[in-house]
Amino acid sequence: MSNQEYKNSWRELYKSAPTQLKKMSETKGLISAFNANIDAVIKVSGKNIEKILNADSFDSSILDKGGPTSINSKEDALRGITKCFAGGIAEEWLIGNEDVYHWLNEHIGFDQLQMGGQGGIVANAMAVCGVNPVYVHCASLPEQQAKLFLDLPNLLSVDDKGELKKAFDISRSEIPLIHWIIEFNKGDTFNYNGKSITCPKSNRFIATFDPLNFKLAIDKPFAEKFNHGRAPFEYIILAGYQMLQETLTDGLKGVDRIDESLKIVEKWLTATPDHILHFEVASTQDRVIRKYLLDKLAVISDSIGFNERELIDMLEVIGEEELAALCDSDTSSANLFKGMLKVREYTKCPRLQLHMFGLYITLQNKGFKISPEKNRNGMQLAAVVAAAKAGTGAIHDKDVLLWAADKEVSNAGLTELKKLSEEVESEISHNKLMELGIFTNDEIEIIAVPTIIIDNPVTLVGMGDTISSISLVGAR
Ligand code: GLC
Repeated sequence: MSNQEYKNSWRELYKSAPTQLKKMSETKGLISAFNANIDAVIKVSGKNIEKILNADSFDSSILDKGGPTSINSKEDALRGITKCFAGGIAEEWLIGNEDVYHWLNEHIGFDQLQMGGQGGIVANAMAVCGVNPVYVHCASLPEQQAKLFLDLPNLLSVDDKGELKKAFDISRSEIPLIHWIIEFNKGDTFNYNGKSITCPKSNRFIATFDPLNFKLAIDKPFAEKFNHGRAPFEYIILAGYQMLQETLTDGLKGVDRIDESLKIVEKWLTATPDHILHFEVASTQDRVIRKYLLDKLAVISDSIGFNERELIDMLEVIGEEELAALCDSDTSSANLFKGMLKVREYTKCPRLQLHMFGLYITLQNKGFKISPEKNRNGMQLAAVVAAAKAGTGAIHDKDVLLWAADKEVSNAGLTELKKLSEEVESEISHNKLMELGIFTNDEIEIIAVPTIIIDNPVTLVGMGDTISSISLVGAR
C-alpha cells in the first residue's frame, strides 16, 4: 500500500471519533488526583532578560558558573531562564524560597494564568468531554485557582466545609500555587558581559512555587468522600508524585508521602472494587522516588501512561541502563517498544501506554477489560482532541473538540508505525499494525495509532495528560 492509501484507511478508522466522544458522557464518575496548580505563562524576550540583568545590580558573572537545578535566589532563577534560553531546552526547577516567589511576581509577572498540574488539566479535559461527574482533588483551592476550572456543573471539588460543590464556584482560604511557564522564541538574543546569546529553539523554563504539592499534601475531606462507596466512580487517574524528593523540608521523607497517599487510594479501591486505576508517570527527577513509584504504585495500577522521556527514565531505574541509552540515542518506536516490554515485565502492570511524537502505543495483557478495538477508538479520539488543543490553543468548549476530526494522520506517525510493525514482525510475528493498528497473540495485545500533527502548535503544555486520559476514558 502507498502512504496515501494508508492515510485513507486511517481516515476511515478515525471516523469513530464523534461516537466515542458521545460515549464518554456515559461514564459514571472519575477521580482526578492529586495535583492542580496555577500556570502563570509569560513570554520573555531577550531584551527583557537584559533589562533585568542591568537594572537589578545583578552580578551576571553568576550566569557562567554552574549551580544546583533549584531556585533559592533571584540569581538561580536567572540562571535557569538563561540556561534554557541559550540551549533551547525545557527544564523545571523548584523554588525553595518565598522571597524569590515575590521577586518573580514583581520582575517577571505573567501574560496569562491557565490551569496547571496533571490533575487539574485531566479534570478539565474529562469534564469538557462530558464525563459526569469529575471529582478533582486540590491541595489548595483559592478563588484564583477555582476560576481556572471550567465553569461546568459536572466538575466538582470540596469547599471549605468539606462539601462537594462545583469546582469553579469554590473559594478556600489557601495560598495560590504558582508555576511560572517562561517561554522564549527561537532566534531571540540577549547580551551580557560583551557576549551575545541567541536562542536556538523555542522552548520554556518552568519555575515552580508549590510548597503543598512538593510534599503531596492531601485534602482530608476530599479523601474521605470516596471511602464508603457513596460517591461512585469508574476511574481514578493519579498524578502529581513527580515533584516529590527523597528528603523533603520539615524532615519528611518522599517515600512516606507516597505510602500515605496509597493508604488513601486503597480505601477508595476497597469501597468501589469495580474501577480502573491509571497512573500518569510524569517527569520525575528524583531517582529514589521514581523507583519507589514503580515498585509501589505502578504494580497496583491497571494502567500507566508516559512519554518517551519518562519511559527512558523508568528504564534507568529498573536495571535497563543500556536499553535506556539506546532509546536516548535513537528514540524510535522500535526501541521504545523494547523498553515497554521491559517495564511490563518489571511492573506486571496490565496496560501500558506510550505517547510519543506522531504515535501512541498501548501494550496490554491478552483479554484486558478494554478490548483492542475500544482502545484504538479511544486513542484516535485522543489524537483528534490533542490536535484541537495544539491547533486552537485550548479545549475549553465542547464545540472545539472535533476541530481536527477530518485531518490526515501524519507522515511522521506512519514512519514510526512502520518501524514498530517491523520490530514486532522480527521479534514476535507477522502483523497488520500498519493497516489496522492492532496485533494480538496468546499473551499480549498491541494497539498503535498514528496521530495528527499540527505544525506550529499554539500550546504543548499538558498535552500528555490530555492524551492519556482521553485514550483511556474514550475507550468504551
Ligand atoms: C508540570 C508543571 C505544570 C504543568 C504540567 C503540565 O507538572 O509543573 O505547571 O501544568 O507539567 O503537564
